[in-house]
Amino acid sequence: MSRQDPRFAFIIHPIDPRADVRRRYPWLAKVLPEGWIHYLSGLWPPLKLSDIEGIESQATGERIRGWLLACPLTPQRMRTSALDFVYRKIIQTVRLAERLGADIVGLGAWTAAIGDAGETVARAARIPVTTGDAYTVAVVVEQLRQAARLLGVTPWEAATVAVVGATGAIGRAAADLLADQVARVLLIGRRPRGLQQVAQALTARPRRATVEVTTDLQRLIEAPFILSATTAGRAVIQPEYLQPGSVVLDVALPRDVSLRVQRHRQDVLVLDGGIVRVPGPVNFHFNFGLPRGLAYACMAETMILTLERRFECYTIGRNIPVDKVNEIARMGARHGFEVAPLMTLGRRVRAAQWERVRHAAQQARSSKEAL
Ligand SMILES: NC(=O)c1ccc[n+]([C@@H]2O[C@H](COP(=O)([O-])OP(=O)(O)OC[C@H]3O[C@@H](n4cnc5c(N)ncnc54)[C@H](OP(=O)(O)O)[C@@H]3O)[C@@H](O)[C@H]2O)c1
Repeated sequence: MSRQDPRFAFIIHPIDPRADVRRRYPWLAKVLPEGWIHYLSGLWPPLKLSDIEGIESQATGERIRGWLLACPLTPQRMRTSALDFVYRKIIQTVRLAERLGADIVGLGAWTAAIGDAGETVARAARIPVTTGDAYTVAVVVEQLRQAARLLGVTPWEAATVAVVGATGAIGRAAADLLADQVARVLLIGRRPRGLQQVAQALTARPRRATVEVTTDLQRLIEAPFILSATTAGRAVIQPEYLQPGSVVLDVALPRDVSLRVQRHRQDVLVLDGGIVRVPGPVNFHFNFGLPRGLAYACMAETMILTLERRFECYTIGRNIPVDKVNEIARMGARHGFEVAPLMTLGRRVRAAQWERVRHAAQQARSSKEAL
């Protein structure tokens, strides 16, 4: 592939199986039980979903194109199948990217998180592979900062931030960044040993924040800001865990935060994590659920690397150095990628919602100070 016309491919997979099947095969979605969709997803071959065009660098004016590819495995199918089978399916999709002529391929959602987070896939691939997690980390931390600024109740430097899924690639690297920005970081996970290792690595040098670990999700009540990044594949954050006026940034796909939170907690804001505005008149020719012009940060990482001609396995595995997070954020900003306006369940947060949560946060703060 010529360097004058660099191309990328990005791999996605079904997240909400019934909705995804309905989009492409409406008649099939009506008759197929969900269990069958999970099973059949494993038998389907990888496929090209669409051509992506119109990504235009603000730095160079260059336009690049790419392809959206589907690795047809649902999260449940990935979790319940042998790892070898899942790797094989992802590698088959990478082969499709190679045949199309892509210079680099990005792994989306669980294709990046499963097993060793891209290492086996990258070894088998003939083109560079990246998970997109470095840029995702930069974006989610910026989203939390913006939310703190817009609420205007707790100064960011004085905030407590809880990270759910702190032993994962995104959770761990985000906690690393946050430890130099805020007052307290609460690492939440299910394995005490894994959490201790993350905390030890974070505190190996002096930090602004105190770092604590817990396996108890009920301790979310202590945090006005929460980042959730697990691969639970189901709701792990329930309404009763949250303090009034808190902000939860849910980057997980499928979502970590129960829909009951939106229904029953008007005093809490659940934000969609890891969403950016792509520079130029981008058209994905495929509806993956975001408003026009927006993309997931993991997709954007592959685009940024293509604009930079950095055809290398940029982010692979669960140990993401902060330097890489900062570097990809700088490169993204240079080309005009920016954090999208903050959204909840796919819609921009309205002024009235900010106001309601701000009020709840102020009240919570006053009653804490009165104690
Ligand atoms: N919006 C975006 O642009 C974007 C980009 C990339 C990824 N994502 C999403 O972000 C999430 C995290 O990705 P990642 O790459 O960081 O994944 P990862 O490295 O595999 O980490 C997953 C984390 O989830 C935890 N976990 C797994 N199952 C759990 C359960 N049943 N209950 C509670 N915790 C559980 C793991 O804990 P253990 O260590 O104990 O296993 C680990 O801490 C995924 O949902 C992915 O789809 C979104």
